[in-house]
Amino acid sequence: MGALDELAQHRLVPVVVIDDAADAPTLGAALVAGGLPVAEITFRTRAAADAIRALADRGDVLVGAGTVLTTAQVDVAVAAGAQFVVSPGTSPAVVERCHEHGVAVLPGAVTASEVQTAIELGLDAVKFFPAGTSGGAAAIEALAAPFADMRFVPTGGVGPANLAQYLALPAVAAVGGSWMVPRDLVGDRAHDALRTLVVDAVALADH
Ligand code: 3PG
Repeated sequence: MGALDELAQHRLVPVVVIDDAADAPTLGAALVAGGLPVAEITFRTRAAADAIRALADRGDVLVGAGTVLTTAQVDVAVAAGAQFVVSPGTSPAVVERCHEHGVAVLPGAVTASEVQTAIELGLDAVKFFPAGTSGGAAAIEALAAPFADMRFVPTGGVGPANLAQYLALPAVAAVGGSWMVPRDLVGDRAHDALRTLVVDAVALADH
């Protein structure tokens, strides 16, 4: 099964900002214990590549790289063991480098033109980002009419209060968000608190 199909099975993508790769083992343990062995580690910190490597080495977490803006970051992410790459925008260069590596990629797309660009790049899934300020679930529903084969992963402003709206849409493969893995709790290695947030999110997504 491809990484995007695995994401679609889990329905949730925890978006992580990690300041110290030494915090990754606790994060991985909490995600696995909480029943959601998935992490998008964002390239917003210098710890990202080492954190990806630490999670990939576990072997039981589907780990990807987020906030990937350049082809160089694609190379670093893949070398670290990233199984999928997420980008906030529709960058053909980033997508093509991912294709060269044979790694799954989710570029950001919120307009019809961006979705068409993604289709031209051979993709059938995009990150809908930033979801909350780009029209939310209603916008995805509208885009799904002409783009019937496109799957969306809304992220940005998604949380317990509006998760169900997104997951109810057939076009939504999974939903991403940072609410399950707050930066301060990751930094505090707060295993039990993280596990509880993950368990709660999984329960909501299963409804
Ligand atoms: C992302 O990069 O996907 C977003 O920053 C996550 O958005 P959120 O913090 O609103 O969940």
